Amino acid sequence: MATCRIPALLTLLTVAALSLSKAAGQSCPSATPNTCFNAPGTASICCPGSCGASTGPNGMTATCAGAATPTLSNRAIFNFTEANTNCEGQAAAPGQGNTFGDWCTYIAPLVDESNNVIGNTTYLISNYRTSTPSGNYYELNIETFFFGPDDSGKTDSISIYGVLLAEETELIVLGGTGKYRGAKGYVLTRPAECNDAGDVCYFPKDFFLV
Ligand SMILES: *[C@@H]1O[C@H](CO)[C@@H](O)[C@H](O)[C@H]1NC(C)=O
Ligand SMILES: *[C@@H]1O[C@H](CO)[C@@H](O)[C@H](O)[C@H]1NC(C)=O
Repeated sequence: MATCRIPALLTLLTVAALSLSKAAGQSCPSATPNTCFNAPGTASICCPGSCGASTGPNGMTATCAGAATPTLSNRAIFNFTEANTNCEGQAAAPGQGNTFGDWCTYIAPLVDESNNVIGNTTYLISNYRTSTPSGNYYELNIETFFFGPDDSGKTDSISIYGVLLAEETELIVLGGTGKYRGAKGYVLTRPAECNDAGDVCYFPKDFFLV
């Protein structure tokens, strides 16, 4: 998601194209070799075995057979024409969010699987490798999800940490506040879903709280 300039937008488009190209069985890792699409066929995940039923409104969420059901799922909306979701010009990111050592700060609206706004998510991201032209990025991610009514530490929130890649990744739930106080578990990312113009992308995450 560390993108801002036009080449970076193209990078994101490439990411979207790569996730679709999983149909050919090329981009799933060997531990989860099978591609499973959601009901509309617009998004997919990599599964260790067979596919599960699509879940969520209009079957938007692809699942693996026997997989745990997420406690909650949400998507951050990145509109790259807005400063809050764009690393361009940020003082700590001379490489515009694409090169080693860049730090980017973001705040993005958060929607549920029905596209209802449920809060905001704040990011502090650092690149530990330079992004590649094929659309891969390598980021350390510290992120707090605020579930309204504001973005203070006094509302319901969940904080996560870990490595964020363009492909599916697993991050750690560090804890939470409000009704998520003491939260533990993990988060799985799904590949970004971008509009045709590539200027707005959704970054889906599934939370598994234990
Ligand atoms: C993205 O942000 C711009 C500037 O605020 C706005 O005009 C545009 O409608 C937004 N795009 C979407 C798809 O929300
Ligand atoms: C999300 O952030 C926007 C922009 O800073 C703010 O106007 C809005 O109140 C925030 N929403 C919540 C639920 O905190």
